[in-house]
Amino acid sequence: MSGNQTFTMIKPETVSKNNIGPVLKVINEAGFRIKAMKYTHLNKKQAGEFYAVHADKSFYEDLTSFMSSGPIVAAILEKENAVADFRELIGSTDPVKAAEGTIRKLFAESMSRNAVHGSDSDENAIIESDFFFSKTERY
Ligand code: CMP
Repeated sequence: MSGNQTFTMIKPETVSKNNIGPVLKVINEAGFRIKAMKYTHLNKKQAGEFYAVHADKSFYEDLTSFMSSGPIVAAILEKENAVADFRELIGSTDPVKAAEGTIRKLFAESMSRNAVHGSDSDENAIIESDFFFSKTERY
């Protein structure tokens, strides 16, 4: 993957508020190309597996319940310096601290309902992309 791909999820509250389109517009206008995309609904076990790295955190139960509460959009995004540039585009995990114009400032409600997920490293971008997509689902 070598730095030009990242993984994102548009979270359940963003989907239920009909904000898939507006979020994708911001992503596209920032220069990211969609390499793979899937509209799906994680069950609790799958959400737990996806966020296994947070299994020891106090917010794990709430996080996995919320992430399995409704459909999400999963996508692989492509751009030079994808992981860092996408994290800048989405803003701080806590929307109160997110910079003006970032996706979380524009769309997030709270730390747990924070609109989108973005991979935090190239290594995790690969792991997270492989969680959702086979080789033949990437274009
Ligand atoms: P995300 O980028 O999907 O990665 C892990 C998620 O855990 C994060 O976004 C937040 O939604 C959630 N999270 C991280 N820290 C906290 C926290 N202190 N309290 C509640 N939720 C958190």
